[in-house]
Amino acid sequence: MAKKIILTGDRPTGPLHLGHYVGSLRTRVELQSQYKQFVIIADVQALTDNAEKPQLVRDNVLEVALDYLAVGIDPQVTTIFIQSLIPQLAELTMFFMNLVTVARLQLNPTVKDEIKQRGFGTSIPAGFLCYPVSQAADILSFKADLVPVGADQIPMIEQTVEIARRFNRSYNCSVFTEPQGLIASVPRLPGVDGKGKMSKSAGNAISLCDSADTVRDAVKKMYTDPKHLLISDPGTVEGNPVFCYLDTFDPDKQALDVMKEHYRRGGLGDTVVKSRLLEVLLSILDPIRARRHEFAKDPGEVMRILKDGTAAAREVAATTIQEVRGSMGINYFPN
Ligand code: TRP
Repeated sequence: MAKKIILTGDRPTGPLHLGHYVGSLRTRVELQSQYKQFVIIADVQALTDNAEKPQLVRDNVLEVALDYLAVGIDPQVTTIFIQSLIPQLAELTMFFMNLVTVARLQLNPTVKDEIKQRGFGTSIPAGFLCYPVSQAADILSFKADLVPVGADQIPMIEQTVEIARRFNRSYNCSVFTEPQGLIASVPRLPGVDGKGKMSKSAGNAISLCDSADTVRDAVKKMYTDPKHLLISDPGTVEGNPVFCYLDTFDPDKQALDVMKEHYRRGGLGDTVVKSRLLEVLLSILDPIRARRHEFAKDPGEVMRILKDGTAAAREVAATTIQEVRGSMGINYFPN
C-alpha cells in the first residue's frame, strides 16, 4: 500500500525555537519513515509581510534548513523544498483565489490575529490577506493526508478543506484529498516571560541554535510564580512557565511530581527548579546544536539538499496542476 502523505512547513523569518520543536518538528522526525513527507520552506508566504526584506527571508531559508537537519529531519526520506521555486503553487493559488471570498479570508482567526499583531490597520497587503489560499495550494498540490502543525494553524487547515471541497464540487471531480491537521498533544509552550506563546517577534523564545550560555540566561530570567518570594513560601505550579516547560520536556515525571509537591508545600527555591530545567533543556538542545554546527560547515551541501528536494517536489506539483487543468477543461494543448 502506498504511504500516506504529509505536508508541513515554516516561514523562513527567523530561527526555529522550542515552540516549533514541540509543536511540530518532533512529530516530523517521528513520522518521516511511516509517511511520504514533504516539508515546505514557505518563502513566498514569508514575503507577504516582509516584501521590503527579501534578504531576511533569503538568509533564513538556510537557517531553517539547518534547523530541520539539526533536529533529525532526514533528507533521504523527507523532501525539503523551497516554495518560490515551484511555480505550480502560484498557479494553483490563482485558480483557488476564485473559490474563496474576501469576507471568508477576513474571518480567518489566524489572519485576523496576525493583522492585529502587525498593526496593518486597513493597509493589509493583498498577498497577506490571501496567504491562506496559497497555503491551501501548498497542502493540496501534494495531496497531503496529514498536516502536522501547531494549534495556531487549525484555521488554515479548515480553510484548505473548504477549498478542496469547493474545487471538487465546482469541477465535478475528485482531484483533491481532504487533509487532516495533526495538532501536537502538548499544550502550547508559553514564552519565557510567561506572556502568550513563545515567538521570536515577541522576544520570548529559546531558539534551537542558541548557545548554552544564552539558554542559561533565558532560564535564569524566566518568570515563575510572582508570589513565591521566599524559598519557604508555598508556590503555584499551574501556569508557572518553569513547570510548563518541565511538564513538556522533563522525561522523569516521577521526580517532577515530587518537585511539584515540594514547591507547593514551600521550601523549594526557584533556583533549584530552574537548574533542573536547564539540565533538561540542554540535554535536548546540546545534540541539536552540535548537529547544526556540523551541517553549517558545508552550506553548499545544504543548498544541494534543497535543490534536489525542490526538483522532486516540482514534479509532484506539476502532475497535480495537469489534473487541475484537466478537471477545469483548460488544458488547451494536451499531448
Ligand atoms: N503558515 C505556516 C507558518 O506560519 C507555514 C506554512 C506554509 C505551512 N505553508 C504550509 C504549514 C503548509 C503547513 C502546511 O509557519
